[in-house]
Amino acid sequence: MRHLLDTRTLDRESAIRILDVAEDMAATQSREVKKLPTLRGKSVVNLFFEDSTRTRISFEAAAKRLSADVINFSAKGSSVSKGESLKDTAQTLEAMGADAVVVRHGASGAPRTLATSGWISAGVVNAGDGTHEHPTQALLDAFTMRRRRYGAGGSRGRDLAGYRVAIVGDILHSRVARSNVWLLAALGADVTLVGPPTLLPQDVSAWPVSVAYSLDEAIASGHDAIMMLRIQLERMNAAYFPSEREYARIWGLGSDRLAALGEDTIVLHPGPMNRGLEICSEAADSPRATVREQVANGVSVRMAVLYLLLAGEREGFETKESR
Ligand code: NCD
Repeated sequence: MRHLLDTRTLDRESAIRILDVAEDMAATQSREVKKLPTLRGKSVVNLFFEDSTRTRISFEAAAKRLSADVINFSAKGSSVSKGESLKDTAQTLEAMGADAVVVRHGASGAPRTLATSGWISAGVVNAGDGTHEHPTQALLDAFTMRRRRYGAGGSRGRDLAGYRVAIVGDILHSRVARSNVWLLAALGADVTLVGPPTLLPQDVSAWPVSVAYSLDEAIASGHDAIMMLRIQLERMNAAYFPSEREYARIWGLGSDRLAALGEDTIVLHPGPMNRGLEICSEAADSPRATVREQVANGVSVRMAVLYLLLAGEREGFETKESR
């Protein structure tokens, strides 16, 4: 794997391969010594032009557990705020010898530009670009669903055929939703998007999904997983819903809806959560919620991605014998 720019171009086999390597990585994370020597001597640059807490820390933890050197570059307080371009920033990183660049950017397509421009030779991982994609988030979500369905021991080699997922809320502004739609389709899951028409993209009819406009009806029809999305107020330039109270009442996962979920339905949220808006605290803290599992699984998935990017198919992958 040279870059990871999206899930749209990821086929079933490649997706399962990443998830399986992530299982190997997760197995090493329950050992007393979590650090593997695999990427010793490699350097990974976290290039973040947009705010992030968990994604940046997660990539940092993943790179460090593989013994890579990590350089964190955040656009605030750097020369980017003086007007330095993506190209100049990238070439500075290249001159410093970066082997992989993990990039988050407000513009959709920035990671692809970086990967295909010839400015740098490093592998590029998209850590979220505008409203376009966030592939490692979708991979950690799929990893979490697969584990809840088949268990850590039974997940390897499996897809999510027939698994029913509802993605609820601000689809329009969500790169997480887009990456999930493509990845879940590749893995054979059935996806329903649920939200107000104002927060559903216009081109949704071309996506491999069904659409529902009532959360209560969607819940009544039964799902294996329900993914609540954050209302992305920072990307809204108009009034997409009457008020936060109205939104919570019609589209939020409140305690009544929580109680109406199927016995085994799990609740995902990529974070950061707006408690009381799209999800109530009771739902966020319930045993169905996978929010903290998602964060833990994110490190394993990002270890897998960095490994596949930087160590390739090299022999002697340290965790194989631990199977
Ligand atoms: C998501 C993002 O940044 O796209 N968060 C994340 O990576 N954990 C979703 C969001 O911000 O709502």
